[in-house]
Amino acid sequence: MSLLARLKGKGKSGFGYGSTAEEVTAGIDLQGKNFLVTGCNSGLGLETARVLALRGAHVLGAARTREKAQGIAGALQGGTYSPYACELSDPTSVRACVSEVGKAGQPLEGIICNAGIMALPTLHRAHGYELQFFTNHIGHFMLVTGLLDQLADGGRVVVVASEAHRSAPRAGIEFDNLSGDRGYEGWTAYGQSKIANILFAKELARRLDRGRTANALHPGVIQTNLARSMSPIVRGMITLTEPIAMKSVAQGAATQCYVATHPSLATVTGEYFQDCNLRRPRATAEDPQLAARLWEASERIVAQLPT
Ligand SMILES: NC(=O)c1ccc[n+]([C@@H]2O[C@H](COP(=O)([O-])OP(=O)(O)OC[C@H]3O[C@@H](n4cnc5c(N)ncnc54)[C@H](OP(=O)(O)O)[C@@H]3O)[C@@H](O)[C@H]2O)c1
Repeated sequence: MSLLARLKGKGKSGFGYGSTAEEVTAGIDLQGKNFLVTGCNSGLGLETARVLALRGAHVLGAARTREKAQGIAGALQGGTYSPYACELSDPTSVRACVSEVGKAGQPLEGIICNAGIMALPTLHRAHGYELQFFTNHIGHFMLVTGLLDQLADGGRVVVVASEAHRSAPRAGIEFDNLSGDRGYEGWTAYGQSKIANILFAKELARRLDRGRTANALHPGVIQTNLARSMSPIVRGMITLTEPIAMKSVAQGAATQCYVATHPSLATVTGEYFQDCNLRRPRATAEDPQLAARLWEASERIVAQLPT
């Protein structure tokens, strides 16, 4: 166990910084349950898919292409697996994924919105919107709202956000700058996309019925492919600090596996977690009016995207 894990210990849930995805799901039987995981081919998504399958689940793995999703099949043991293409920055691909999952017809016990990109150094856009906002938030908004009819009674939507939501603009969401035209900084834009993840889970929680829940979380700081757009120097520094300051991938996937499956959270909704325990996000991320406004803006954005 790392020094940080020892220092941080465990919280009220009985789990903490050092807990792994296997530990938090030990003894949970997921046979006959269907979990959709986005970004299943790498990092935390891959470990989440692996551990859910290990507990017997049928994992629906979504990646940018079906080939990428299919590529992890050999890493999963225990449950069953179906690969799906879902390029979150391409509305046609997201809609096709919704339609294909719909045709398969299985009720979903969990949708884990895990895929993401981070801190792109220069401004990129999809359909006129800043790419991190579009990929991390709008893509998942389309996917989840498209699949809501299929979310089972008591089903859970789990949105992987980040403590980086604290670096979002002062207003939380800059509705007049969703294109990035009026100024762009990579970390601020990432923060905005991650506060959008938390606000989305909050508003979704308010709208859900039939015992269904929606929560957001920070997984920790973990060396994955997420830092791919950083300079080689920064990536080198990350590698140096990893043994003392970072979680392993097994620890990083713990909070999303915990929030998606643990029986103690059956009725917990609209919350934010870190290290498998409740945490208060930035106050702006708890603003119900902002959450409702983001939902309405997201609906308007989706309505004008190509079909
Ligand atoms: N690692 C950390 O320290 C950390 C900290 C806080 C929050 N998070 C969050 O944790 C989540 C998982 O990240 P990770 O660390 O596991 O990073 P990762 O290894 O880079 O995995 C990200 C996944 O998202 C997928 N993805 C990216 N853009 C996509 C798109 N347009 N459409 C579909 N899939 C797309 C990637 O696919 P490709 O491989 O094809 O690009 C990959 O499967 C992210 O939401 C991230 O913001 C991570």
